[in-house]
Amino acid sequence: MSGTVAVAPPFLAACRREPVERTPVWMLRQAGRYLPEYRALRERHDFLTLMRTPELATEVTLQPLRRFPLDAAILFADILTPIEGWDLGLSFAPGPLLERPIRSAADVARLPRVAAEESVPYLFETVRALAAELPETTPLIGFGGAPFTLFCYLVEGKGSKSFARAKAFLWSEPEAAHRLLDRLADLTIDYLGAQARAGARALMLFDSWAGLLGPEDYARFARPAVAKILAALGDFGVPRIYFPHQGATLLGEVATLPLEVVAVDWRLPLSKVRAILGPGIAVQGNLDPAALFAPAAELERAIDRVLDEAGPGPGHVFNLGHGVEPTTDPDQVARMVERVHRESERSAQRGGSR
Ligand code: CP3
Repeated sequence: MSGTVAVAPPFLAACRREPVERTPVWMLRQAGRYLPEYRALRERHDFLTLMRTPELATEVTLQPLRRFPLDAAILFADILTPIEGWDLGLSFAPGPLLERPIRSAADVARLPRVAAEESVPYLFETVRALAAELPETTPLIGFGGAPFTLFCYLVEGKGSKSFARAKAFLWSEPEAAHRLLDRLADLTIDYLGAQARAGARALMLFDSWAGLLGPEDYARFARPAVAKILAALGDFGVPRIYFPHQGATLLGEVATLPLEVVAVDWRLPLSKVRAILGPGIAVQGNLDPAALFAPAAELERAIDRVLDEAGPGPGHVFNLGHGVEPTTDPDQVARMVERVHRESERSAQRGGSR
């Protein structure tokens, strides 16, 4: 009422393409190994223990926010977390490793139907704790892996550069592959919906391996499951962010998905990304994480270039084009966050809204 104007947090406003005073910024993989305080905790607990213990997962999520004035928090979990209920013998070493990968139609048929609230109850406890603890201005982002990216790990059983075995499964067992991708879509709808109900104020889908597919196979195998998830999540009224990593050639297919924000890597400048996606979609990105190893003046030039490429209109969330590298100097991250806020505020005051 009198004197109190409800102002959306800058991150949520930018996701909805509303004008902001300065460009909001957060960082892919902002909670983790480049922070000495994370490494200290990690010496005492393994990764799965950190993730499965709500007090510890909450602490790790908050660590970067204590250091930097970031505009959003991201839940400390992994994209493989929701498959814990499928009993495939998941571990991390440090990347995902499965004792029992999926290799046949029979393996797909055997997967149990388990509600996320039952298979990973700790995760929603963490979300509720964070929702209670975070300031109103710093929304919590919930996330999951996109079906094709999860499929890659489930079939290959571990990380890979080419995921040749997983891709071969697409073509040799297309029906089983579609069934598995659809099961992953259903699992993710339940998992992300429960995160939203527990207090996540935006939802992001990481499609880290989307760029392994050409546009035709992307449209045939990966996109339908992503579209199913995003359509179902529309009911929750929170911004939906989709990150098709190395997906510059896929953006034509991505532009027609039901979503608010597309996150992109640095391989295509944001002006070109926006030209393909059109004015109805916000963009998130896209500083090369390697720029954080550059001398200060070069880093600042790279940041300014991203802001310029995003253009003067609203609908830009500043981020890296992929996760922050574990050897990154936290002082460089501080420099980046400050520069994004200061430069974007200056240009907004000069007239171009952000
Ligand atoms: O800060 C955050 O962003 C929140 C936490 C988060 C983790 N993983 C924690 C983690 C997020 C968003 C992820 C996403 C994730 N996990 C992706 C998508 C993003 C991307 O990088 O493309 C992928 C492909 C994974 C799978 C995965 N998990 C890998 C390849 C690895 C090993 C190496 C690595 O990238 O860190 C993990 C383990 C993992 N997930 C760690 C962390 C902090 C390292 C665990 C450790 O401390 O040893």
